[in-house]
Order: sequence, then C-alpha cells, then structure tokens
Amino acid sequence: MHIDPLEKKWAQIVLAICALFVGIIMIDALFHGVNAPSNVETIDSAKLHLSEEFAEDNLGVQVDANGDITVRMVAGRYSFFPKKIAVPAETKLTFRWVSIDVLHGVHIPMTNMSTMIVPGFVAQIETSFPKPGNYPVLCNEYCGLGHDHMWSKIDVVEKDQWIAPQISSTGVKE
Ligand code: CUA
Repeated sequence: MHIDPLEKKWAQIVLAICALFVGIIMIDALFHGVNAPSNVETIDSAKLHLSEEFAEDNLGVQVDANGDITVRMVAGRYSFFPKKIAVPAETKLTFRWVSIDVLHGVHIPMTNMSTMIVPGFVAQIETSFPKPGNYPVLCNEYCGLGHDHMWSKIDVVEKDQWIAPQISSTGVKE
C-alpha cells in the first residue's frame, strides 16, 4: 500500500497531538488531583432549604469530631452562597456543592476545583489551598444573562491563624 509522504507526516503530527493531550490528562489526574466528577449522590433541588444538610444554618464551613473540614455551598443565579467564608490554607477541605436552579460550574484558580454543579446532584471535591489569600470563585458554565457576574470569594487564612466556626449549644453558628 502506498501512503503519500506528506500524508504520512500529517498522520504523525495528529498522533503526536493526541498523545500529548492524553499525557496532559494523565498528569492532571495522577499528580494534580483533577478528575471527572464521580459523585452520583442525588438531592431534591426544590427542597434544599428544607433538607437537613443544605438548610441555611448548615451552609459554610463545618468541622466534625475528627477535625475534618467540610464546606457546603449553594450555587444559584447569580452567586455562590454563603457570600463570605474563611478556610485554612494547606489543609484538606471537602467541598460539597448544590444548585438551587440551573446548571452552574465552579472554578477556583490555583486549585483542582473545577466541576459542574448539576441540579439534582451533589458535586463533591477534595481540595486544598496552597497559600493564604483571597481566592475568586467563578462560575464556568453558562447559566443565564448574569453568568459573567456570577462569582464570589473565599478567604484563605494561615493554617495556625484559622479559627474553626463555633457551634453554640442550640446548634446555631455564632
Ligand atoms: Cu452560574 Cu454561570
């Protein structure tokens, strides 16, 4: 079979580009913790305010008995709630996201946080912030006319200066 040398060259370039992309995906998955969302937990988006976990008082940062930190946030046109939270740097954090209306995305630069927030599902991602600062939280799925303005911020403080939120005896955050 005869293959034109020029055609052969193009085929090699295409294969090289494919190999490069697969390589980048492998490096991201293995070394940067970037992977496709595999959490298939479902939730009734219309009843979020009534659900135990995502009721207003439970949103934001919580520390369990083992010292593990979970951050629960709600995405809705056009922001992420709660608007203001503080988390420690260089610490493993489990983020749980839900949408109250349509499909949103969340992206936090300098971390592996980039996922879709699909109505009816809980998106969960483990991440950590490399250094203290003010990190932007951006929506990266088109969700309506206000999409460009859908962003919020997370305060990341030095690990040893971070104060865990206090839960009062009535179960309400102070
Ligand atoms: Cu929310 Cu775009």
